[in-house]
Amino acid sequence: MADRRPIGVFDSGVGGLTVLAALLARLPDECFVYLGDTARLPYGAKTPATVERYSLQCAALLRRYDVKAIAIACNTAASVAVPAVTQAHAPLPVLGVLEPGAAAAVAASASGRIAVLATEATIAGGAYERAIRALDPRATVTGLACPLFVALAEEGLTSGPIVDAVVRHYLEGLDPLIDTVVLGCTHFPVLAPALRAALGRRAIVDSAATTAAALAGLLSRHGALAEGGEPPAPRVRFLATDGVARFARVGRAFFGDALTDDRVELVDFAG
Ligand code: DGL
Repeated sequence: MADRRPIGVFDSGVGGLTVLAALLARLPDECFVYLGDTARLPYGAKTPATVERYSLQCAALLRRYDVKAIAIACNTAASVAVPAVTQAHAPLPVLGVLEPGAAAAVAASASGRIAVLATEATIAGGAYERAIRALDPRATVTGLACPLFVALAEEGLTSGPIVDAVVRHYLEGLDPLIDTVVLGCTHFPVLAPALRAALGRRAIVDSAATTAAALAGLLSRHGALAEGGEPPAPRVRFLATDGVARFARVGRAFFGDALTDDRVELVDFAG
């Protein structure tokens, strides 16, 4: 039987909208509730214990909307919180973006020399390196923490001299033998054009499309696909824990003009 309940998606802010766009394209019959924890971003500068606690709170908030699955559209949260969220909400399917991002990197790399651009927390935890090497044990993984990319993306600043200077700051001196760069933070794909100029012929991959494919498979295994028929309108309910107008304004750079101010609801963990 078709399961018409929404899929919950969360990130610290607007970054996960890059994943949501891929989910909407890959799962046309599904509807979604997207939560941006804008009151507490960035997650990438927090300790693992704090990120796990925040992630559990985001998942619990999404459960209020009767979601049938949870996609953690934040690499920082996914790198530490998938086991805790899965355990807290079993048997609900829970998926993080990190393994799908690692799979995209391994598929794109011929040489096995891969750079991961991510937040400080994701790089410090080493989860990407472990996920990539689990898929390709001969891979060499270089992790680069690029926290200012999150600030640029949340500012809606995706091109121009400031962006170019920050890109140079992080990427100058990158090993020329690296053939693939994985954007291991869901905020980073909006900076892809600026990164492209600095990265030359290297492949640039992110976790959006592979996460969408993995979620489709997970829902199917749980018998939880909506399968056919019209999804309810609106297809996405947007929630933010602070600054709804700002979320909508910046989110448009990620998600397009459909993200109007009046579509974002302010929510509170206290309920
Ligand atoms: N979008 C989050 C990620 O994928 C990080 C942003 C933040 O630092 O809050 O890691």
